[in-house]
Amino acid sequence: MFTIFIKAQRSALIADYINELYNKVATLLDNDIISIKDIPLTLCISIIEDPLINRHISKVILANEAVDSIEELVTVIKERVKNEYTRLEVVPSEAEDKLLLDMEANGIKLSPSRYDKVLYIFKGNKIYFSLLDKSYIFKKIQDRHISRAYYKMMEAVKRFKISLSKSYSVLDIGAAPGGWSEYLKDYVKEIVAVDPGDLLVNSYNIRHIKGRFEDVVDSLAEYCCFDLIVIDVNRDPIYAAELLIKASGLAKKDAKIIMTAKLFKRSKSYRDHIIERFRSVIKDRFLLLDMKRLISNSDNEITLLLSKI
Ligand SMILES: C[S@@+](CC[C@H](N)C(=O)[O-])C[C@H]1O[C@@H](n2cnc3c(N)ncnc32)[C@H](O)[C@@H]1O
Repeated sequence: MFTIFIKAQRSALIADYINELYNKVATLLDNDIISIKDIPLTLCISIIEDPLINRHISKVILANEAVDSIEELVTVIKERVKNEYTRLEVVPSEAEDKLLLDMEANGIKLSPSRYDKVLYIFKGNKIYFSLLDKSYIFKKIQDRHISRAYYKMMEAVKRFKISLSKSYSVLDIGAAPGGWSEYLKDYVKEIVAVDPGDLLVNSYNIRHIKGRFEDVVDSLAEYCCFDLIVIDVNRDPIYAAELLIKASGLAKKDAKIIMTAKLFKRSKSYRDHIIERFRSVIKDRFLLLDMKRLISNSDNEITLLLSKI
């Protein structure tokens, strides 16, 4: 079993996500490091290859052994690597220079580019490490999507446990440049994407209605009724609530609504106040079911889940 140490931006949100989605206790250490104890290597790999986590990671350490000192570590490693080249991955990075010098002084062959083994080291109250085949080197996944909004929708669907269906019609309000539609298009029948801006995603099942939602809403009756409405307008939540009221006649009963709420101040009292005002505007048509800070939300956003009454 392994302990994994992940250094990442947005570490507190990632720890919440791991606790919730992987049902594992992710502990937040200093310097944006998350640690998860006693997990199989396959689960370590699933976590670090999870696209919602991977894109925020700067360093990963996998460890299945521990020693008390660098001297002890050098002795163990020297015995195991023999003549092979090894790549060091160290957290915290301040510990790296001394480790490099001590290893090389003891004849351990190190190379960051041509190596057979990877030696992961986390220096805490003990020295946690693993010596693995080179295939276990941590890699960043290439990002091929239109915008980071793609991940926001991927995460909202996961976190709110939305079951998408190939029979679904979706209304995407504030759709440009198209990250949300890009994600949803593979899981639903059709998407009506409304935005005055240009869509950068093209698909047989996405219809772009160019204009502000309030100006084009009457022309949308022909697509009625939607199973899911997603709304991400860069306006305050009360404005978005008014758009939702206009959209309510287009939603099926019990349809789910996913919405980003942009909060222009960070304090909890401001957030509570805005959410209460939002709730009072939508209360006759929609139920506010849940709200979460997603890893993929920016600092001034939260994501809401509603359902049509
Ligand atoms: C943050 S972006 C949306 C990003 C989008 N969800 C994505 O996945 O790419 C906000 C968008 O809301 C649009 N918007 C603002 N007010 C709107 C309105 N009244 N009706 C429709 N779109 C609006 C803007 O044109 C802008 O493209």
